[in-house]
Amino acid sequence: MTASGNPFDLDNEAAYRAWRERKLSQKAEPPVVAIQSSEGASEAEARALADSCNARNFVLFRFRNPPADPQPALQALASRFGLRDIDANLCAEDSGLTEITVKETATDNRYIPYTDKPIGWHTDGYYNPMNQQIQGMLLYCKQPAMQGGINGLLDHDIAYIRLRDQNPDWIRALMDHEAFTIPANFEGGKEIRPATIGPVFTFPNEGTRLHMRYSARQRNVQWKDDPLVLAAAAALRDILDEDPFALELKLQAGEGILSNNILHRRSGFTDSPDPALKRVYYRARYHDPVIY
Ligand SMILES: [Fe+2]
Repeated sequence: MTASGNPFDLDNEAAYRAWRERKLSQKAEPPVVAIQSSEGASEAEARALADSCNARNFVLFRFRNPPADPQPALQALASRFGLRDIDANLCAEDSGLTEITVKETATDNRYIPYTDKPIGWHTDGYYNPMNQQIQGMLLYCKQPAMQGGINGLLDHDIAYIRLRDQNPDWIRALMDHEAFTIPANFEGGKEIRPATIGPVFTFPNEGTRLHMRYSARQRNVQWKDDPLVLAAAAALRDILDEDPFALELKLQAGEGILSNNILHRRSGFTDSPDPALKRVYYRARYHDPVIY
């Protein structure tokens, strides 16, 4: 929000321009905040983490001394930023943090996160019910892949700006309550998740923030059969492939991302033949945004 109103109000061009200016004037590359003690970030470290999150919806951090078991440290970090309402899923460990590594899952369908395959641009939990959307997300690298496993990151505010600059009607189209449907998920002939029908763009926290539901997958997603929605979806695909704010980086051991569930992707990777050196990430998804 600015003094002159809400930038997401399509009728308030002045507020949008001021906010847009601020967003686009920052460096595409965020700082990496070093956290001295994995027992907890200091005041100054927490402030630096919060500043980056406020400016670009994410921050990169690095534990100077990565803990052997990162789970308590990650939970302490998340809860410091108001991330408490964790989204449990089929494969989450007891703590609610999910270990992401190449493994067999206890489900019929082999979920791509647990393979070495690439994952296209998406936000987390786009298939969740609309009242359980993922607002905050933590991703942490315990061990990188031997080769590949590069993350792409893009603040969804930037995607919104690119679309609105080209055609504000595309924003309206992606706010449509039937814009983006994820069909029901079936396993063994039984429905384990109903279809989710909803907008791409919503504005939680009384309209002060932007939330995005998105997956670049062509299969298993259905865009509303409407010329504006389809044009906006096509424009979005082009933006994600080319935007100068889209960051490509390979997290190293002890590094992570704290985010308001920004757009992200992962390249395919090759694990070390030594099982002790395979790629291990931790991820947690929350129904709360990062707040400090
Ligand atoms: Fe993800």
